[in-house]
Amino acid sequence: MTDDRENLTVIVTGGNRGIGKSIVMKLSESGYDIIFTYNTGTEEAASTEEAVRKFGVKVKGYQVDLTSRTRIEDFSKQVKKSGQRIFAIVNNAGIYKGETIDEITDEDWEKTINLNLSAPFYLTRNLHSIIMDNGSIVNISSVYGFRADPWAHGYQASKAAIIHLTRGLAKELAPRIRVNCVAPGYIRTDMNKEGWESVTFYNKIKKITPMSRWGEPEDIANAIKFLMGPSNSFITGETLVVDGGIGL
Ligand SMILES: NC(=O)c1ccc[n+]([C@@H]2O[C@H](COP(=O)([O-])OP(=O)(O)OC[C@H]3O[C@@H](n4cnc5c(N)ncnc54)[C@H](OP(=O)(O)O)[C@@H]3O)[C@@H](O)[C@H]2O)c1
Repeated sequence: MTDDRENLTVIVTGGNRGIGKSIVMKLSESGYDIIFTYNTGTEEAASTEEAVRKFGVKVKGYQVDLTSRTRIEDFSKQVKKSGQRIFAIVNNAGIYKGETIDEITDEDWEKTINLNLSAPFYLTRNLHSIIMDNGSIVNISSVYGFRADPWAHGYQASKAAIIHLTRGLAKELAPRIRVNCVAPGYIRTDMNKEGWESVTFYNKIKKITPMSRWGEPEDIANAIKFLMGPSNSFITGETLVVDGGIGL
């Protein structure tokens, strides 16, 4: 299989900032056209589009609240209408709510499950038929899909469930589409800014991580590019942990 990515489009959810933006940059630099989504970060979306254009590929950011099934339906229709050759979907958008069982509201529970678990499911259901042969889907879990804190139940449950959804979909969509997952450790983005901005917590994570540092968005983008692209010809249904060894 060649590494010529010309005229192949990848859909990246939550591509305007954080890990999603790094994925968008990495893939566009490799020659993929990009469709990405964002929710409220309009300015970041515009600057991501501008940054991608310098690679000479097509790029378009769509505002989609992925907690809404109607919006997912509309977006899927727009993607189909675009006529672009869809090579892959990267289901990256996610939210973290760190509440305990007595603190978490129904709304936060539902929002977390809808965005982190149901949105990847609905997008896959709506769009798998237009993914090209030998195409790919990559979902994003977390080390908290394997381990648990005594809080963040919606987050942890959604991240464990996406690992198993990945396995089932991989079996159903094989051999045409590979479905894999990446489970990041502690990555420096807005999601855990409070954590890495605190000197004590920053140093604690650094100390207990065998690779002796926090992860950066590009660490995850590199793993996604590999799992998604033509170098991965035979891995499907897997979750690749990218955590500097903290989960060992
Ligand atoms: N950072 C970490 O340490 C870490 C660790 C493990 C796993 N992960 C996972 O990696 C993925 C990306 O995380 P990140 O750290 O890059 O997060 P982030 O910086 O907080 O970015 C979150 C992204 O999700 C989008 N989003 C939020 N609510 C949405 C909604 N209702 N509908 C559509 N999109 C929405 C945001 O768009 P707007 O800007 O428009 O709001 C943004 O693009 C998530 O699935 C996360 O769980 C992260």
